[in-house]
Amino acid sequence: MRKDLGVKAAVFPMPVLMIATYDENGVVDVMNAAWGTVSDRDKVSLVLSESHKTVKNIKINKAFTVSLADVKNIKEADFFGMASGNTMPDKFEKSGMTAVRSGRVNAPIIDEFPVTMECELAEIVSTDNAYFIVGRILNTSVREDIIDENGDVDIRKAGILTFNQFNRSYYLTGEKAATAWDAGKELMG
Ligand SMILES: Cc1cc2nc3c(=O)[nH]c(=O)nc-3n(C[C@H](O)[C@H](O)[C@H](O)COP(=O)(O)O)c2cc1C
Repeated sequence: MRKDLGVKAAVFPMPVLMIATYDENGVVDVMNAAWGTVSDRDKVSLVLSESHKTVKNIKINKAFTVSLADVKNIKEADFFGMASGNTMPDKFEKSGMTAVRSGRVNAPIIDEFPVTMECELAEIVSTDNAYFIVGRILNTSVREDIIDENGDVDIRKAGILTFNQFNRSYYLTGEKAATAWDAGKELMG
């Protein structure tokens, strides 16, 4: 038996991305974005509302950073998705987090977040259906304590969050189920 849920963008997991920018006076803003994905090996694409302070800042500086939110900073991550720099000028200050200027782009790195992509604005794509901000990744900076013995990011060690839009909740990423491009080998014949 199956049940129809109607129109639902039923994609899971979605990321919990922290988009950090400077405004024209160097004031830091961070927003929470679940509608984002990798769109090339060196590109990340975000679907953002044009009215957000973040979008205004990206247009000014042509740069932003994208971090993966972790469970340690869940309160701050959620707050960044509720408050707007448009109406709360001290939004970032209120979070108590630490911003460090990126050496590559005119945008801040939020030191507490475990993984951060430093991006220059590659393109803004505005269609009848979506408003995409596409960033070119110039560097990915990672907290050393979350790197495993193979030099890879250990997502469980990092406590990286995902977003479940079915119940509007954050989840911790779980167990490895199998290796990709390997689990299906048997059926290849
Ligand atoms: C879990 C979560 C996910 C969100 N995802 C997005 C998103 O993908 N795109 C978007 O435009 N807004 C998204 N938002 C809303 C913005 O984060 C929110 O409007 C924020 O206040 C914008 O901040 P700013 O105006 O300071 O840039 C999300 C909020 C939450 C809580």
